[in-house]
Formats: sequence, structure tokens, C-alpha cells
Amino acid sequence: MKKEVKKVKEKKSIKKEQKVVPKKISVSFLSSPHIARDLEKLNLTDVDFIHVDFMDGKFVRQKSLPFKELKNIYRYTSKRLDVHLMVNKPKKFIKKFATLNTAYITFHVESLENIDELIDLVHGYGIKCGLALNPDTEIDSLDPYLDKLDLVLVMSVFPGKGGQEFILDTALKVVQLKDKIEKLKLDTIIEVDGGINLETKDYVSDASILVSGSYVIQSDQFQEAITSLR
Ligand code: DX5
Ligand code: ZN
Repeated sequence: MKKEVKKVKEKKSIKKEQKVVPKKISVSFLSSPHIARDLEKLNLTDVDFIHVDFMDGKFVRQKSLPFKELKNIYRYTSKRLDVHLMVNKPKKFIKKFATLNTAYITFHVESLENIDELIDLVHGYGIKCGLALNPDTEIDSLDPYLDKLDLVLVMSVFPGKGGQEFILDTALKVVQLKDKIEKLKLDTIIEVDGGINLETKDYVSDASILVSGSYVIQSDQFQEAITSLR
């Protein structure tokens, strides 16, 4: 194990004793083979959000279901949505997802439109705004926007598909980001997305929201799996 990750783990065990705040859980149905059935099952759990992964085939190679199909998930869930836009041009999709039962809209700091304008657009709908960061993007790239954000989504895998392995270096990024947010006395929360399971969740104890795809969706008991991540 890398020294840095060891340090993170040590620091985490100290912090855990200081404050144990239950995490919010946002479940991604990206790799679900039975979306309607799984959303109905999730609706019977205490999951906090449904994480909607939307991909344009440009920002990432993969393409998700088009919005006109995705919007029908309201038939199967009454949970609030946590929308993750993996797209080059978020503006038109922000407008679309703002019409749904959406709590958070998150787009990438690496996307190609004016980030300040997009943040204002999301807030104009009364929706909380997040900015996502790829594993190889420095946290300093958030500096111009941090005080306007409700959430930072730290990607712990490269975006595109579910079921990938958690990238350990991103755990250190979460610690550094948390320190930065505390120093600036901001209320911005951290969400971590990718490869979250019973082991990796402990590497990112500074996160307020954990996204889980395959760990929950492939489990026999959704509620048990969700509870085990909190
Ligand atoms: C990756 C997506 C993630 C993914 C999470 O591009 O943004 O939300 O579906 O799935 P797991 O938990 O399987 O890594
Ligand atoms: Zn996601």
C-alpha cells in the first residue's frame, strides 16, 4: 500500500472517533439490467437519492439513454434525483433535468461551457449545484467556483461506466479538498463517485454523500447494502 494512502487511513481513524455523521447514499442504476424493477426496489429503501448518470458520447465515449427515455424514471421512483452530467455542453441538459424531481445537478469542471453561468443557471431553478472532478484533475481547478458550490463530486474512477475499481489516490484528494473547504469556512459538501463498497467507503470518510452503483445493485438486499455504506 502506498505511504500516502496509509496516511489517509490513519488520519481517517482519528477523525472517525471525533465525529460520526451518517452518510447520505445516492444509488446509480447505470449498470442495472432491470432499471424499472431496481428503481421500484430502491423506492422501498431509505436511499437518499437516485444518482442519474447522463453521458453524451463525447465527454466520455459511452452514451446513456436519451433524456426523453430517462425522464420516465419518475414512474418508478419518488426519490429525489442527484443528476451527474458527463457531457461537454451541460446547458441544454441542465434545462431538461430541472423539470424533474431534482435535488442536485452536477456537471464537470472539465466541460466546455462557462462554468459560472452554468452554476447560476442551476441555482436559478432552485436546485443545488455540484461540480465534478475527474481523477486526474487538480482540486485547484475548483478555486474560482468553490464558494458558489453546494457540492463537489470527486470521481474515484474515470467516468464512463460502472463496476470499476476505486482509484486510491483520489482518497487523498478528498482529504485535501475537505481541508481547503474548512479553511475557507464554506458549507460545500463532498460526494464521491466510483468503486464505492464496504472497504473503499472508509477511505473517504470526509464525504457527505457516497454514490454506489454495482455494490448496491448487485446485492441481494438493497436496504442492507445501503445501510452498510452509511
Ligand atoms: C461512472 C458513473 C458512476 C458509476 C458508479 O461513470 O459516474 O456513477 O455508475 O458505479 P460503481 O459504484 O459501480 O462504480
Ligand atoms: Zn456518476
